[in-house]
Amino acid sequence: MNNSIIEIQGLQFNWDKSKVPFITIPGLVVLKSEHLLIKGDSGSGKTTFLNLLSGVLPLSSGEIKILGENLADVSSSKRDAIRANHMGVIFQMFNLIPYLSVIENVLIPIHFSEVKKNKIQTRGSTAKEEAIRLLSELGLQQKEIHEKKVTELSVGQQQRVAAARALIGSPEIILADEPTSALDEKNSLRFLELLLKECNKNNSTLLYVSHDSRIQQRFQQSISIHDFTENMRIAEKKGKEAMECSS
Ligand SMILES: Nc1ncnc2c1ncn2[C@@H]1O[C@H](COP(=O)(O)OP(=O)(O)O)[C@@H](O)[C@H]1O
Ligand SMILES: [Mg+2]
Repeated sequence: MNNSIIEIQGLQFNWDKSKVPFITIPGLVVLKSEHLLIKGDSGSGKTTFLNLLSGVLPLSSGEIKILGENLADVSSSKRDAIRANHMGVIFQMFNLIPYLSVIENVLIPIHFSEVKKNKIQTRGSTAKEEAIRLLSELGLQQKEIHEKKVTELSVGQQQRVAAARALIGSPEIILADEPTSALDEKNSLRFLELLLKECNKNNSTLLYVSHDSRIQQRFQQSISIHDFTENMRIAEKKGKEAMECSS
């Protein structure tokens, strides 16, 4: 069985197509359950890259396959469905809905995805029970917090709500856009441990972009956004195919 969750080939991107691309990824394969940190300074293209991956931003050159589907070959509504059903995104600024409570924010993805809803029901829980479980796992176990408006929470607490919202329904892919940038080192590492633990539990693939190299030690693999050369896995596969052809 093909274990690739994300496959990229020949990706090049610049807002202005006449200019030299600032994102160049000749080849990248990310497998099920892998955690990959992509490092880059502010303005290097991390958020842009995640928007390309989630299909929010159309690709001008190259190929991105998500769970075997080539994003360029499918309609925009299908891209929206892939994102809603198979991804969870933790945004840099969290993007929580200010007038909704903590629980309501965590439940948002369930309203947009039968797939996520069914996954929870298959395990014998309701969406609300799962939201509470996730919030508790992420250190927000106090019931009174669940009913609060998100604007009444600290930044660290809001970040956990954003993580629970990305994790609900156990999506295959979690995209995290430097969610720890507003936290001190101790809280960043603590948050990361919780996120990694939940990703491991669900066998989710995690792509985490950050300018903060202090968190690198916690990742199985890390790469600078400027350093994508021919990906080893693809290179190995191609080398093997070439050998098989010539023998
Ligand atoms: N919507 C946009 N239109 C044009 N240029 C943009 C847009 N969004 C970001 N950029 C530019 O793209 C580059 C990469 O930005 P971004 O992906 O946000 O970087 P990072 O997330 O690494 O800080 C920057 O030069 C930024 O100014
Ligand atoms: Mg960014």
